[in-house]
Amino acid sequence: MPATVVVGTQWGDEGKGKFTDLLAKEMSMVVRYQGGHNAGHTIVIDGEKFAIQLIPSGVFYDHITPVIGNGVVVDPFVLLKEMDSLSQRGIDVSRLKLSGNAHLILPYHQELDALHERHLGKAKLGTTKRGIGPAYADKAMRVGIRVQDMLDETIFREKLHATLSHTNKVLTKVFNRLPLDADEIADKVLSECLDQLKPHIADSVNLVHDALDAGQHVLFEGAQATFLDLDHGTYPFVTSSNPIAGGVCAGAGIGPKEITRVVGIAKAYVTRVGAGPFPSELFDGDHDGDRMVDIGKEFGTNTGRRRRPGWFDAVMMRHAVRINGLTELAITKLDVLDTFDTVKMCVAYEIDGKRVEKLPYHQSELHRATPIYEEFPGWNTDQTAATEPDHLHPQAQAYLRALEAQVGVPITLASTGPGRNQFIHWES
Ligand code: GDP
Ligand code: IMO
Ligand code: MG
Repeated sequence: MPATVVVGTQWGDEGKGKFTDLLAKEMSMVVRYQGGHNAGHTIVIDGEKFAIQLIPSGVFYDHITPVIGNGVVVDPFVLLKEMDSLSQRGIDVSRLKLSGNAHLILPYHQELDALHERHLGKAKLGTTKRGIGPAYADKAMRVGIRVQDMLDETIFREKLHATLSHTNKVLTKVFNRLPLDADEIADKVLSECLDQLKPHIADSVNLVHDALDAGQHVLFEGAQATFLDLDHGTYPFVTSSNPIAGGVCAGAGIGPKEITRVVGIAKAYVTRVGAGPFPSELFDGDHDGDRMVDIGKEFGTNTGRRRRPGWFDAVMMRHAVRINGLTELAITKLDVLDTFDTVKMCVAYEIDGKRVEKLPYHQSELHRATPIYEEFPGWNTDQTAATEPDHLHPQAQAYLRALEAQVGVPITLASTGPGRNQFIHWES
């Protein structure tokens, strides 16, 4: 019966993988409901680092059924590679279930993603070039190809021919590229992927409901984050799915009343990869920002890109609380601030001379927003061994309490290092 959602509340890479793994201990099933291999979720177990893109972060427990839901876009080659690489490291992936309704990312999606970005030039979004946008666009255009289509060769080939008849015109006439051959793609996918994926293809919606009906606890693992959401993010600098908690309903096939707990994951500061507005950004060369990147190792899990750093933004977080219906917050990377003399928090914006406490709906205003900061004395203490709230330095506790007061939902967990055991149950 209980359903918990783990959702990113900033611009991604908040530590969703770490907390999904942590919470999965008490669950039966972990379900991804959107996104694809644009995600990179890191879990560090006994010093060993796993960076996963498509397989739910609950896979490390033998009692968990990991499920890739209908809302995910799946590159079958990437999925198989990830399954192989986890298997080689001793992780059992045999329980993995893949929704037959999930859409496939095929080679032309990646090519189109890169071409669109190049075409945009300076206005590019900075996508991961994984084919995410074009795959979701095909889904919305109703020319997408689903996982279940692979199970019927005639249908699979027919659909590929139909979609490529249009896509090839775009590739050749708009982008001056060579056309792709539908049968060549079909041969490759069917010969290299189908046999291995077939045992995993499932009716994920009924699987999830049967688990919920049996009173099992299901965890829904978000990828990306609230401000990368297609509807609620800083459009167009967003991804092409709905990472917000509401995305679970469409992306996994459950009703909103099933969701009992929504855990927002937030860094103790903020990072963003790719282009787009970021009011509390600390620009290249800023001493504090550079230290966040260095100490926090803020480079993309998959793409290796430097993440843009900034101070915690309570204005955005209050909005994330509303959009997701957060019941609580889990704060990560508190330890990254351990050596800062002063820690700042953006509590409001100044826009055109006025103090603004709610996220402006007009994005031009967000571009003009100047952060109004509250400053906190740093704690200058190594907190990476803290396992109880009172192990935290009083000034770190004060920072968390101030953050809670700004945001209006309780913090229940705080993380003080990448390791599985580096966290505390926080009570203010
Ligand atoms: P996700 O995409 O939200 O799962 O996050 P990523 O895995 O992309 O990025 C988070 C990074 O921070 C990973 O390298 C994690 O191992 C690391 N991490 C998570 N929690 C903490 C923490 O509390 N402290 C530190 N120093 N690193 C953390
Ligand atoms: P996790 O799940 C951070 C960003 C890209 C780009 C925008 C659109 O690890 O938090 P896309 O390839 O999705 O079309 O790119 O979204 N982006 C992410 N940033 N973490 C992610 O995932 C991201 N997935 C996409 O950098 O700005
Ligand atoms: Mg990530």
